[in-house]
Amino acid sequence: MKLRSRITGTGSYAPKKVLTNYDLEKMVDTTDEWITERTGIKERRIASDSEAASDLAVQASKKALESAGIRPRKIDMIVTATVSGDMPVPSTASFVQSKLGARNAAAFDLNAACSGFLYGLAVADSFIKAGMFKTILLIGAEVLSRFTDWEDRSTCILFGDAAGAVIVEATEVDRGIMSTHLYSNGSMWDLLYLPGGGSKHPASKESIDNRVHYIKMKGNETFKVAVRTLEKLVVETLKANKMKPSDLSLLIPHQANLRIIQATAKRLKLPMDRVVVNLDKYGNTSAASIPMALDGAVRTGRLRKNDYVLLEAFGGGLTWASVLMKW
Ligand code: UT7
Repeated sequence: MKLRSRITGTGSYAPKKVLTNYDLEKMVDTTDEWITERTGIKERRIASDSEAASDLAVQASKKALESAGIRPRKIDMIVTATVSGDMPVPSTASFVQSKLGARNAAAFDLNAACSGFLYGLAVADSFIKAGMFKTILLIGAEVLSRFTDWEDRSTCILFGDAAGAVIVEATEVDRGIMSTHLYSNGSMWDLLYLPGGGSKHPASKESIDNRVHYIKMKGNETFKVAVRTLEKLVVETLKANKMKPSDLSLLIPHQANLRIIQATAKRLKLPMDRVVVNLDKYGNTSAASIPMALDGAVRTGRLRKNDYVLLEAFGGGLTWASVLMKW
């Protein structure tokens, strides 16, 4: 029997503090109407001062472990997809490993921006198929609020803080990950980036004065490339599996903008009741958005055994990725 990988548990966590569009009206020159129409976002969550990415990640991971019925010691590897980790060194995954007591686990972070979780699923799938590991904890965790320019109305309305986690296990049953598709185009890096704090623009008084430690985005250009790229990606993914859009029970897209999600659904002729949307409540949480949405779908019974589900994402890098699974 062929070795496959399957998600056997999911969990998510969002900080308590809610920041609504009405709150943002008091901070920058914007309106609830503009944000709702252009993005679909109504509110987002903001981490407390004492919460870093690993704290969110641990909360989500505990729920994923519980739902999979697995003890931390059984985990072979922890991968955290994030662009807003606790520190540059060590990895956020290292903090998660320690806080969970997952003493047998390898640990590292992965940066593929908003596509990070799906890149992580491909990594987990590959390690399992290679026979190297059997049980992997994959997390998407972001505290983007710390890297958001709260004076820039074109970006500060978009992002939120959250974490989602899954347990990926080796299986011989005919369910689980069917295919993974990863792409990038680094020549378009300047559509979405965070220049400060790395080796190119290390922290200095000048870097702080120039506000380089915040996310920069050419929103409209990114939007257009995202729509075009994702429409092509979902069609290719189904074709690679000799499947039709009507075979899909659910589409779980990265939650960047409702209009991007609707365009992808339209390309597949999928009714919106087969598309998971939670950005109205959480905004764009980068690598956390897909595992959050997946956990929501599982816990509300929208995803059932043997359903075909397509996950897709697009983000900084540029990167884009998709995963097709039989649940
Ligand atoms: O997650 C990774 C991938 N990310 C994405 O895929 C995000 C892609 N981009 C987007 O979601 C959208 O481009 C945005 C929501 C960021 C912006 O929507 P848009 O329809 O592309 O607007 P725009 O940037 O073309 O701006 C239109 C107008 C501008 O005014 P003028 O130049 O027409 O006078 C902006 O200054 O809207 C103005 N504007 C705002 N007005 C009120 C920009 N931000 C705001 C705001 N409130 N918050």
